[in-house]
Amino acid sequence: MRVKRNSIHGQWSSRWAFILAATGSAVGLGNIWRFPYITGTYGGGAFVLVYILCVLLIAMPIMMAEIMLGRRGRRSPINTMYVLAEEENLNRSWSYLGWLGVVAGFLILSFYSVVAGWTLDYIFRAGSGAFTNVADTAIVSIFDGLLASPERLMVTHSLFMALTVIIVSMGVQSGLERAVKFLMPALFILLVIMVGYAMATPGFKEGFAYLFEPDFSKLTGEGMLAAMGQAFFSLSLGMGAIMTYGSYLPSNASIARTTFSIAVADTCVAILAGIAIFPLVFSYGLQPNSGPGLIFVTLPIAFGQMPYGQIVGTGFFVLLLFAAWTSSISLLEPAVAWLVENRDMSRPRAAGLAGLIAWILGIGSVLSFNDWQDIRLFDKTYFDIMDYLTSNIMLPLGGLLLAIFASWQMPRSSSVDELKIGHGLGYQTWRFLVRYLAPLGVLTIFLNAIGLI
Ligand code: TRP
Repeated sequence: MRVKRNSIHGQWSSRWAFILAATGSAVGLGNIWRFPYITGTYGGGAFVLVYILCVLLIAMPIMMAEIMLGRRGRRSPINTMYVLAEEENLNRSWSYLGWLGVVAGFLILSFYSVVAGWTLDYIFRAGSGAFTNVADTAIVSIFDGLLASPERLMVTHSLFMALTVIIVSMGVQSGLERAVKFLMPALFILLVIMVGYAMATPGFKEGFAYLFEPDFSKLTGEGMLAAMGQAFFSLSLGMGAIMTYGSYLPSNASIARTTFSIAVADTCVAILAGIAIFPLVFSYGLQPNSGPGLIFVTLPIAFGQMPYGQIVGTGFFVLLLFAAWTSSISLLEPAVAWLVENRDMSRPRAAGLAGLIAWILGIGSVLSFNDWQDIRLFDKTYFDIMDYLTSNIMLPLGGLLLAIFASWQMPRSSSVDELKIGHGLGYQTWRFLVRYLAPLGVLTIFLNAIGLI
């Protein structure tokens, strides 16, 4: 008989706490900053459709697999993969998959923290009324001015990293669970207000059509890869973050139902952000493909013109900062859990060390907007490379390998035992999706993007 494990790091107080924490991890800059700008880069509707298909058919089944492995292993991803491989008599090299995730986590956190820093900067700008009744061009130059200043970017990058380290130091339950409970609904409400505002602008029809009327002539292999990458990024999948959160999940919670709630909430927030932003893009004559600055230009223009815009704008960036915060902690947690388990470090020391590594890596992203902007590889800056490499390559690859491990390597009896949804149709559908459809989907999109099929 298999011995039931417990995590040395503690446990969520309930299934609901896990849903909140995992939703907090999933909902972040990925939904509100990255989804709109990537959608704009790849042409709108057709991209959105592929994105939703990737969430349903590839990401959700892999998310169930990731949570399941985490709960069964009850350790950091590296050790979870090791003990599960050992338990099932499989090759111990599967633990390298945990390492891939830890590295991806550092890389993502490094640039994530820089963008979260922009949010921090914008809280003060919106609060001081910098956007109120100024010309659109002035708002564009506010953003350009921020990017041109390495000093300002470093200050907010450092502050945000410190915030992340502090919460991770405090551990699984204190602080985090409580914060998410209030902030997520508040963010949701403000987004709905923004959607209401966007509906009243002249560009609403065009913006809505841009998002929901697929024009397949705009869909490229590269765009499909980006849609899949976005699905992994937005759901915090493929690098062990959700696995780590799963390792703190009580044994009796339903993995299928929690996955469903997280994915629905995450997708709704992304789509709402799209509906709030694209009408503004067209109303103000901006370009949908203007890149990472998209929301930092469109939204301030709207805040500058709407009644009570100063308050709404400040509130919005505060909530976005919190959304980013509840996500960034999940990027650091897997590495910290490993340091605590294997290096016998205290939580605060481990968090400090891991945060320092990500902070240093982030300096490259800070400089890629100014001093290093001409240092490029395949026309991509350091920041672009970090973003592309992690979202489009490392996360889907991690997810692919997780799916293979969970459905081809682990015996069926083990996944039946851990998922606790019986052997029926639900289980069989999941198994079919992780065993065949998700791996083939990821592979097809990879091969298609590099032009092989
Ligand atoms: N999902 C988060 C967002 O949308 C970012 C994030 C947190 C993440 N943890 C992750 C992305 C793990 C990939 C992997 O903002």
